[in-house]
Amino acid sequence: MAPAYPIVEHQYDIVVVGAGGAGLRATFGMALKGLTTACITKVFPTRSHTVAAQGGMSAALGNMGPDDWRWHMYDTIKGSDWLGDQDAIEYMCREAVPAVIELEHYGVPFSRTEDGKIYQRPFGGMTTHYGEGVAQRTCAAADRTGHAILHTLYQQALKHNAEFFVEYFALDLLMDDEGVCRGVLAWNLDDGTLHRFHAHTAVLATGGYGRAYFSCTSAHTCTGDGNAMVLRAGLPLQDMEFIQFHPTGIYGSGCLITEGSRGEGGYLTNSKGERFMERYAPNAKDLASRDIVSRSMTIEIREGRGVGPERDHIFLHLEHLGAEVIHERLPGIAESARIFAGVDVTKQPIPVIPTAHYNMGGIPTNYHGQVVTLRDGDPDAVVPGLMAIGECACVSVHGANRLGSNSLLDLIVFGRAAANYCAAHIQPGQAHKPLPEGITEAVLTRFDRLRHAQGSHPTAKIRLDMQRVMQNHAAVFRSAELLGEGIHKFKSIRESFSEVRVSDRSLIWNTDLVETLELDNLLGQAMVSIGAAHNRTESRGAHAREDYPRRDDENWLKHTLTWLDDGGEARFDYRPVHLRTLTDEVEVVQPKARVY
Ligand code: FUM
Repeated sequence: MAPAYPIVEHQYDIVVVGAGGAGLRATFGMALKGLTTACITKVFPTRSHTVAAQGGMSAALGNMGPDDWRWHMYDTIKGSDWLGDQDAIEYMCREAVPAVIELEHYGVPFSRTEDGKIYQRPFGGMTTHYGEGVAQRTCAAADRTGHAILHTLYQQALKHNAEFFVEYFALDLLMDDEGVCRGVLAWNLDDGTLHRFHAHTAVLATGGYGRAYFSCTSAHTCTGDGNAMVLRAGLPLQDMEFIQFHPTGIYGSGCLITEGSRGEGGYLTNSKGERFMERYAPNAKDLASRDIVSRSMTIEIREGRGVGPERDHIFLHLEHLGAEVIHERLPGIAESARIFAGVDVTKQPIPVIPTAHYNMGGIPTNYHGQVVTLRDGDPDAVVPGLMAIGECACVSVHGANRLGSNSLLDLIVFGRAAANYCAAHIQPGQAHKPLPEGITEAVLTRFDRLRHAQGSHPTAKIRLDMQRVMQNHAAVFRSAELLGEGIHKFKSIRESFSEVRVSDRSLIWNTDLVETLELDNLLGQAMVSIGAAHNRTESRGAHAREDYPRRDDENWLKHTLTWLDDGGEARFDYRPVHLRTLTDEVEVVQPKARVY
């Protein structure tokens, strides 16, 4: 019998889950267009992980020199190692320009040039003239750009009467028998009540799942809750093998040191004091794309040229930039380096190491934000009533490797696109059909089972086991042997989760239960990620297989779709990469060798 929990009912045109950059941009865009919009978030909106984004948001404004959104598009396709969908990339790079100007008008306090324009800095892989020159394309608010954007968007959402449900944990999607999403069930952490949100469209904006790793730049809240809901709904995730390691996480803490620090002139050295990136990327050097810089650093360390007593990290130098530039352009990372590494960046190098940072994979969508799945042979079949935006989505504009500063861009452009699409297709105030029997009960049954879990394994221990496996078996370099061992270890981790112990049954601020629900979410994603990495027998972007060192376009120029069955087994199928454009203003960029 289904557990009995009293439920509070809500009816909205739209429910958005997540209040980071994408969630807030969508929430406020929907509310602005007259759609009744609820935003459910497990943390206060301005504490969402977007607040930690440092270096900036790309857009070919051309404020600091010549630029063109077509060059940005080319760089993004090359950065993606040709796995990105070119129609979506065209859309993102073209819309970047109006989207950032809009943000400026909404009040984002960008840094300024002498003549008052938005300041833009160089970032890895961003070039002019299709790879010839260095572009200054990344719009920055010092090194606290995410913070500036998030606060502005939250203020705009309040101004337009969006309704926030803060510290509500979304438990699952309410999917009917026809495969239509009808809303979301959520738990109010503050008073223990359960809430059913009926909506014509649910928009997932739940971010990445960085916390599947032991060392990551992500907040503790980054547990990919939306991705996991999609897996439980029997839908696939896409390209989960592609996980970005940011070259410069602070050694020991994982805290991010922005790529903007290399954009401003910082550089990496090994134990011999060599600027080794000159060997790996003779043109772009320290501003090569992230996958290449992270691999180069890892090779230096493996070959015995790491720094420190254990020779297990690399130095990032900013000393030569001078205190004035650091205080004006990079104040936040100066503080982080002092707190987390005990380093005065005006005098000493920062100890850094590649650190899990971003998930290129996620919920497959088209460029409107609609979730797609493989149905009856149609690789672009839409899941009615369900959208996904931001890091949880795989549009796919980042393909196998995301360029730095294309993430804030993705959040804003696709948050805005989802709002525009809903405004054009949903009539405000339409009545909701009654939900079929059994949908809510299925969600409650899982919730109740975990709430009463009385096994012998604490959540924290299982989480640590999972994080160690991901860190040791699915990191910068992979092989069939390493990944296979990881998959094998996951079988016993999964078994131990079936014996998890939740020590507190309370419904009010039960952090043990929250962490257990989050761990369940992380486990599913970790398993499909490592499975998809084992399955893809080539090297492309961030997925570097030592046993298959080459990119293999003949067999692998395709997106992986991965489903997870109840027994924890991954199942794979594929979607073609969109080698097509939206307009005839640009041509498809055909795959070629990727050198920087
Ligand atoms: O390095 C950074 O500031 C991170 C930016 C990004 O991931 O886009």
